Amino acid sequence: MRTVFVDAGPIAHLSGKGALRGHSLLDTESFVYPEGFGIVVLDGVIEAIEHSDELKSEYGTPTDPSASHQDTNVVSLNGNAIIPGLVDAHTHLLWAGDRSRELSWRHAGNTYREISQMGGGIQDTVRSTAAASDEHLLKLGYSRMRAALRTGTTHMEAKSGYGLSTESELRLLKIASQLKSMDHLPSMDLTWLGAHDTPRGLSTEQYVEAILSEQLPKVIEQGYARSADIFCEPGWFNVEQSEDILKSSRKSGLELRMHIDEFVDGGGGELAAELKVTTADHAFHSSTEARRKMESENVNTGFLPGTPYALGTQWPDFNAMIEEEYTWSIATDFNPNCKTLSLPFMGSLLSQRCSVHPLASLIAATRNPAETTPHSSGNIHGRLQVGAVANFNVIDGPYWEAWCLQPSHTPFASTCISGHLLHH
Ligand code: NIG
Ligand code: FE
Repeated sequence: MRTVFVDAGPIAHLSGKGALRGHSLLDTESFVYPEGFGIVVLDGVIEAIEHSDELKSEYGTPTDPSASHQDTNVVSLNGNAIIPGLVDAHTHLLWAGDRSRELSWRHAGNTYREISQMGGGIQDTVRSTAAASDEHLLKLGYSRMRAALRTGTTHMEAKSGYGLSTESELRLLKIASQLKSMDHLPSMDLTWLGAHDTPRGLSTEQYVEAILSEQLPKVIEQGYARSADIFCEPGWFNVEQSEDILKSSRKSGLELRMHIDEFVDGGGGELAAELKVTTADHAFHSSTEARRKMESENVNTGFLPGTPYALGTQWPDFNAMIEEEYTWSIATDFNPNCKTLSLPFMGSLLSQRCSVHPLASLIAATRNPAETTPHSSGNIHGRLQVGAVANFNVIDGPYWEAWCLQPSHTPFASTCISGHLLHH
């Protein structure tokens, strides 16, 4: 089935090869077609991007389709601007419970670490997730993915990590894989994060041993996770423990992702570079030396500005990251204390609060994260070019910059997922 989308406003296509860094992030002219183009989609993949006038003379118009193309739908984009489908490359999608009281604890002066020692934090969510039925978790996951789609996410990475035992981690990955097979939701890429915290009753050393001898082999046998992740942070998993788990995961065939340097510089950036992991996320406190090592080993940095927003802590100078030519992306880090799945909100934080150019923010929410979380069709995504997955957002207006100017509700009139246009 072919669909021809005509009469687009400007199209921020972001096409070309690979991830982008530095000043190429600001090169608007190379990455945005002016008003008047259209997109041809065949079987969920972009077949052509051409002037609307040419497309209309070949395929006709929405009101007068060409008789020689019976199998083709012609759809008007009404002069609205187009951006690629957003790619959320770091989410903790599946968990139950409510940690709202932690806000009062933070206001009383307790740190994230102290809150976790007081019975809050990850362990609290592990308890409530264990008490939730599979059906409830499936329902939560479904409604969260619908919410992400409403704000333009067409592909998301989702981690386990609120199980912390072999059985419960496998359960979360299984429920995520059920969501992955559903239609009209963002596509998914699954990550196993068994090393998110140490379960009650075990020392971290004992848990690492259990992960290596039992949990990892079972995750591989189950086959749903494409990558492994670890919370490499002093107080959770140290550099040596992280290295053991990551190296064994790679040996077993998993790709590697990391949580590093969220609260302090704990040496995770150096390990990320040494192991050449795909992406090292948070990275708020990484040293310049570690950042440079990561860049030279092609490690993406995944900044998660929603977390410092929610916790009232600091984020780095994103424009300095552009100056330094690092490769970086942004993601929501959706989790029990950062309860947003809106990438336009992340874009707003960067472009309205941190003076990052809206094109740089957009690239960090599309093309660059797509490099770290491939589409299961094998086609590229996160940008609009021939051969890419037909994932795009239709902005409710004529300017592509509007994608990051509505942090509280969706800036999109509709979202096209693999060629299907869904109205919001
Ligand atoms: O990426 N930092 C580790 N994991 C999550 C949050 C975990 C939690 O507080 O539940 C994150 O921010
Ligand atoms: Fe996270």
